[in-house]
Amino acid sequence: MLKIDRLTAGRATAPLGIDRAPYFSWVLDSTAPNTLQASYRITVATSDQLAWDSGDVLSREQAFICYEGVALASRTRYVFTVTVRDNQGQQATAQSHFETALMQPDDWVAAWAESPIERPVAETWAWGSQPPAVLFSREFELAGEVAQARLYATAYGTYCPTLNGERLDDREFAPEHTAYGSLLYYQTYDVTGHLRRGSNQLALYVGDGWYLCPHGRPVMEGYHEAPAVLFQLEVTFSDGSRVTIASDDEVRCATGPVLSSDIFRGEKYDARLPFGEPQPVRIADYGHAQLAAQAMAPIRPYAELAVQRIYESPRGETIIDFGQIIAGKARIRIDAPRDAEVCFEYFEATDEQGNYFNSMIADQKDVYISDGVARDYETLFSFHGFRYIRVTGLPRVRAEDFTAIALTTEKADAGRFSCSDARLNRLYENIRWSQRNNMMSIPTDCPTREKAGFTGDIQIYAATALLNEDVTTFLESWLRNLAVAQTDEGVVPMVVPFTTLYERLSLFVGKEFGETRITGIAGWSDAAVMVPHTMHRMTGNKLVLTEHYETMKRWVDYVIRTARERRGSTGLALEVDQHLWNTGFHFGEWLIPSQERRGPPDWEIPKISAAYTAPFFGYLSVHLMSEVAQTLGRDADAVLYREQAALMKNAIQRAFMTGPELPWSLMGAYVLAFAFDLVPEDKREPYAAKLVSMLEANGGRLDTGFLATPYFLDVLAKIGRRDLAYALLWQPKAPSWLYEVDQGATAIWESWNAIGEGGKPRVTSFDHYAFGCVGDWMVRELAGLRGGDAGFAHFHVEPPNDAPLDWCMVSHETMQGRVSVSWDADGLDLLVPANSTASVKWGGQLHTVGSGSHRFS
Ligand code: BGC
Repeated sequence: MLKIDRLTAGRATAPLGIDRAPYFSWVLDSTAPNTLQASYRITVATSDQLAWDSGDVLSREQAFICYEGVALASRTRYVFTVTVRDNQGQQATAQSHFETALMQPDDWVAAWAESPIERPVAETWAWGSQPPAVLFSREFELAGEVAQARLYATAYGTYCPTLNGERLDDREFAPEHTAYGSLLYYQTYDVTGHLRRGSNQLALYVGDGWYLCPHGRPVMEGYHEAPAVLFQLEVTFSDGSRVTIASDDEVRCATGPVLSSDIFRGEKYDARLPFGEPQPVRIADYGHAQLAAQAMAPIRPYAELAVQRIYESPRGETIIDFGQIIAGKARIRIDAPRDAEVCFEYFEATDEQGNYFNSMIADQKDVYISDGVARDYETLFSFHGFRYIRVTGLPRVRAEDFTAIALTTEKADAGRFSCSDARLNRLYENIRWSQRNNMMSIPTDCPTREKAGFTGDIQIYAATALLNEDVTTFLESWLRNLAVAQTDEGVVPMVVPFTTLYERLSLFVGKEFGETRITGIAGWSDAAVMVPHTMHRMTGNKLVLTEHYETMKRWVDYVIRTARERRGSTGLALEVDQHLWNTGFHFGEWLIPSQERRGPPDWEIPKISAAYTAPFFGYLSVHLMSEVAQTLGRDADAVLYREQAALMKNAIQRAFMTGPELPWSLMGAYVLAFAFDLVPEDKREPYAAKLVSMLEANGGRLDTGFLATPYFLDVLAKIGRRDLAYALLWQPKAPSWLYEVDQGATAIWESWNAIGEGGKPRVTSFDHYAFGCVGDWMVRELAGLRGGDAGFAHFHVEPPNDAPLDWCMVSHETMQGRVSVSWDADGLDLLVPANSTASVKWGGQLHTVGSGSHRFS
């Protein structure tokens, strides 16, 4: 029997409130082996009109199929029907729907309502210095019985919406963190059940969020300093009549118990304070052109964690330990006398004695002033990265009064890995946690200190991310932000969305490199090409390549132009130098363990390592661009970039690879040279020997930073030393993955030695997914699930025969459905989903198999 499962529009099931033509995906479920899709047909219709009929399409495609019908109308429900025929003559049909939101800017009749309440601007960005949150409210009467109601809403700041005092759902921090100047998401809510005949009240409580926080302030023209809301509530009554209640000059605003809200540092809540007298708002002209319906899922609670332990530290502090680093908040039952000031300080690691330790420079703290009434308290407008809370001012601290709430942008789970080594399983769990903790509407470096969309971090981590969760719409959203953050000359910033903090930082550190303006950063800005390229490789998503083709092109053209126009300081002949990207500000390899002291503020090692990261990554991006052009059938571009990449590779070899060694005695230089296939034939042996000797001299421990670490294990296998790749992964001494596990890490650390041998913690992040990129290697090289060139329509399975494991298994939800691989000494079990085929290497034999369950022994 053939069945269609998981029918989605834009990767969402029956989405509400889309404003762009969606793409369709489905999964086939068949009891017959070797099933392949032979054809599909999609029709899309409103209740009375056909909007699109794809006709019968002879194709195996079942994901990322773009709607190509008539222009979609606003506020309309479209039913889509997919009929599939397979190679066995079976047919299946399934149906779902999507609903459009406001497709055109002039669908908006709402005006921006801004708070006129004075916002004292603090001199310094200290805890508690952000102004109070503002409650915007609008009273209205409804004369009839409500048949359907939609609320479209957004804000400058982050808002928490209620209708008649009830929260609409459990989403957090809307609207998401975006490049607000040109991209501000609005959210669509089905509020049919929240309205009543007679008087109603809609309220949006607005905290500073990213937009108004000094740490997150966007780089944009026309930035304004006050919270503002925009909403449109569209009600259809059962008699078919309609009414729209929109933000206008009848909106009122007031401040109340949230005295200070800061998405980074925390919140101050005075439960004694009622909301003040509602005041008229100011109508502001912020327009509607920047608005877009949010296509990705919201930030929501992912898990609730109970207290593992409450203890008194040697310093006499009361500390709560949840046993796991999360990003989110806590729900706390507070029962304290009136006027009591209760303080919660969130932190990731204790010092070696078990005392409070602040590893993130800034405080992460919530303060609650009691009105004497016992209640559950949760911060509204802030989240923290934490495992522990230090509590002061609460008369009784009881485990049952505290629950940690892990938040993340909601995504479908897409992977599971386990093996016979418990420490690797813990490493895998740590990777999963760091991923969730760093996906709060954008991919971030850490959920504490910076909460910033560092381009380099996700560039490194994207492949692992895609194996773990369905991050497609999440990354698509982020890439839209990247596209608008790109400058006219093609520069892609270090963080996306780009904020004033990083603009200042770029200019400041740029000076160190003789720069007067912000330039592109090797391995960071390359995310513009590498992230879409990885998405296509892992899921077959061609649409993301098409959508961002111009952005990618602008980026590589910037690299090519910069190489041609700006001379490096290496004294190389022009014919070589003009193909080397060897100028500008770069982070270099970043965080090479033995060289951390030579990093900022002197920037010595970033400069030295930039001498190879820039030309190497420049080459890689141009090379990948030629592949992208090829994939999209843009042949002229493919040829152009292939030739350009060849020139760059040649220049790299002539500039750096004529001697018996590379000019830099750094492992990363060798790793990247091999990883990007830059090493000339006659240098393979000496360079491989050099890399191995450096590794051995370092006691078998890696000494690579952000940019080279993702490739290290693959490179060791490539030079015929898989044994060393295993040794590196199983290395127990720092710097190593398992050292962290042995130290009790519950997420991935930013620096390998975040906790020193004696248990002494450093001021660094304990929750950075970047080095979790090893997850991709574990799936490919330990479980043996290697994927294909463009998703899993055809994929490779090759479990290792020499790994120090008794068994290993992985499952992954591909666009075709679930793949699972499980091996032990007796054999290999493989599940191939319908419409997929696999090449399998097992016991020295090659097999090609179709869908179904397979056993090889
Ligand atoms: C971040 C990194 C980031 C780096 C750039 C750090 O502060 O936490 O993950 O990529 O800066 O150098």
